[in-house]
Amino acid sequence: MTLSAPADHTSREQLRARIAEVLARARARTHTLTDAVDTNELVAQHSPLMSPLVWDLAHIGNQEELWLVRDVGGREAVRADIDELYDAFKHARVNRPALPLLDPGQARGYVGAVREKVWDVLESASFDGGPLLANGFAFGMIAQHEQQHDETMLATHQLRVGAPALSAPAPPSAVVAASGEVRVPAGEFTMGTSADPWALDNERPAHPVFVDAFAIDVAPITNEQYVAFIADGGYDRPELWSERGWAHRVEAGLTAPQFWERDTDGAWYRRAFGVRTPLAPKQPVVHVCWFEAEAYANWAHKRLPTEAEWEKAARYDPATGTSRRYPWGEDDPSPRTANLGQRHLEPAEVGAYPEGASALGVQQLIGDVWEWCSSGFDAYPGFRAFPYREYSEVFFGGDYRMLRGGSFGTDAVACRGTFRNWDHPIRRQIFAGFRLARDLGPDEL
Ligand code: AVJ
Ligand code: FE
Repeated sequence: MTLSAPADHTSREQLRARIAEVLARARARTHTLTDAVDTNELVAQHSPLMSPLVWDLAHIGNQEELWLVRDVGGREAVRADIDELYDAFKHARVNRPALPLLDPGQARGYVGAVREKVWDVLESASFDGGPLLANGFAFGMIAQHEQQHDETMLATHQLRVGAPALSAPAPPSAVVAASGEVRVPAGEFTMGTSADPWALDNERPAHPVFVDAFAIDVAPITNEQYVAFIADGGYDRPELWSERGWAHRVEAGLTAPQFWERDTDGAWYRRAFGVRTPLAPKQPVVHVCWFEAEAYANWAHKRLPTEAEWEKAARYDPATGTSRRYPWGEDDPSPRTANLGQRHLEPAEVGAYPEGASALGVQQLIGDVWEWCSSGFDAYPGFRAFPYREYSEVFFGGDYRMLRGGSFGTDAVACRGTFRNWDHPIRRQIFAGFRLARDLGPDEL
């Protein structure tokens, strides 16, 4: 369903039902992630990069209280005394375990009490009290926020050591070939959106961008392709790496993607959520940092796409000259178009989602793995921070690289053709891979 302005009673009630559905889905996932481990594991820090799961849990509730209970609802605080504890800017992740946090029982009680008030606020919301309420934006923002932290908690689960705590069916296998590249002629396209009601501030506004001719891979780089890079000395040849990338490769001792292990017989294995399996050759590589992606691209005599190239490949429809919401069109993602929402605990083989292809014929842009782009994080022309500077604006110009398209751990509500994610170029606990692009001369079209 595409949301539009609630012109009448029916569309207002449809919007209310849609909000209830996405909030409930997010909460069910939050419970799955936090009920999967015992109390000790909820308060433990599984990696200095991550918060204790119980911090994410109460932070989810606190953001929901700040925006939906107090701001939108104008209701009394559920807990007026804990905002500072759960303000991500006040305490670095590494320091969070030492804080006087709510214990797991208190945190569960807190998020439940906040949600009870939110159901009440939603019941009477009219969706016409200014931009925060228009089209239910604040509710959509909070559902996306919870899902983003659910993906973060999923990364914590991946880092956790111990018996498997999560399970899911295997993803679909390839049904079509997905190799080679698509050539995209030079021209303008519409980047970003002004119309998508729940698009976040950094995706706005829609604006024309001229993109030179380029070619982009039909699919993300696979494990077997990445193994060839390693076998060809990819991690031992400084000339393939940028200066900064090589310094990081040496200092961090990188020799393969995170969670890869090699048997004495030379076979590669991968650990995912406590289970060790032979590396799946046709799945996109995951858990590589931006510097590894850059070195692979140099080895392949190609490069990472810019953010604009990625978005044009995903959204541009040459038949109409317009940009789609998703590669396949305007419809919300389905299990036939994309591997999203923790429905599976790994990326699907390339060629598994032909119905998710873009108008230009590029596959698996949405779901499976976040895709590193060459671009840093900057505002679009006409950007306005909304509703708070700390979501995007304070990160502009920082040491970040862009990630596009979402992963198997991203929920549909927090993913679309315009959605922008970012992280430091050394990070690899996130579910990130990449695809390659290259310049194209006019003679090549
Ligand atoms: C957009 C994924 C980089 O998790 O750090 C969560 C999203 N912002 N709470 C993050 C976010 C505030 C953010 N990313
Ligand atoms: Fe947050």
